[in-house]
Amino acid sequence: MKEKFTKKWNDFYAVHSHFYDQTRWLYLFGRNNICDWLPKDPPGPIIEIGCGTGFNLTSLAARFPDKEIIGVDATIPMLDKARKRISRNGYAGRISLQQCFYGKDTIHCLDNNGTNVKPGVLFFSYALTLMPDYEYVIEQAYKDLCPKGYIAVVDFVETKFKLVHDWFKWHQVQMNEDIIHKLEKRFPDYNLKTSLVFGGLWKYCIFVGKKAE
Ligand SMILES: C[S@@+](CC[C@H](N)C(=O)[O-])C[C@H]1O[C@@H](n2cnc3c(N)ncnc32)[C@H](O)[C@@H]1O
Repeated sequence: MKEKFTKKWNDFYAVHSHFYDQTRWLYLFGRNNICDWLPKDPPGPIIEIGCGTGFNLTSLAARFPDKEIIGVDATIPMLDKARKRISRNGYAGRISLQQCFYGKDTIHCLDNNGTNVKPGVLFFSYALTLMPDYEYVIEQAYKDLCPKGYIAVVDFVETKFKLVHDWFKWHQVQMNEDIIHKLEKRFPDYNLKTSLVFGGLWKYCIFVGKKAE
């Protein structure tokens, strides 16, 4: 499944990575606000899973200047774009990238001294709804986080319109409120904000949950 998924998305993003940043700001809402929901000084390094072209990585590096920032993605075309963005913004030494299929591969998380540590924040921005096994991924995130670490998620939630639902499904996006229920269950200490966009066409969420001790 991992190989099939990676091949499919490598092919998809080989085309879409070229106009991803020019188009996705139109409908990937909440990405500019989610950092406001994180604590000022979260524990441990920050990892974005499914970092894509690195849109969030440079914001995270600017917001958390003392933190190690790591971007993880399954696809090479998106990582190539992220690498260029990081270097263009002068963050080459601060943000590192890994090609990794989260949920199957092991992520490597090193602190400033090169010691293997658990991440303090796992950040998912419009990535969880693309993962068919999201329940397993939420469990994996819980295990991977350090005690008192945070999961931060911004993503689609639901639409009442079949056409919109089918359009997103065609793009492999699961518009599924169950993802929020699973997050709430695993991270009962959480903040959640949901917002409707385009006059109620769909709902997206910002979820920040804290792992227990
Ligand atoms: C819609 S893009 C979002 C990119 C970025 N987070 C943003 O907000 O612009 C989803 C990204 O998740 C990646 N992805 C999907 N499943 C993944 C997995 N299991 N492990 C790592 N990356 C994954 C895809 O390759 C893609 O780059």
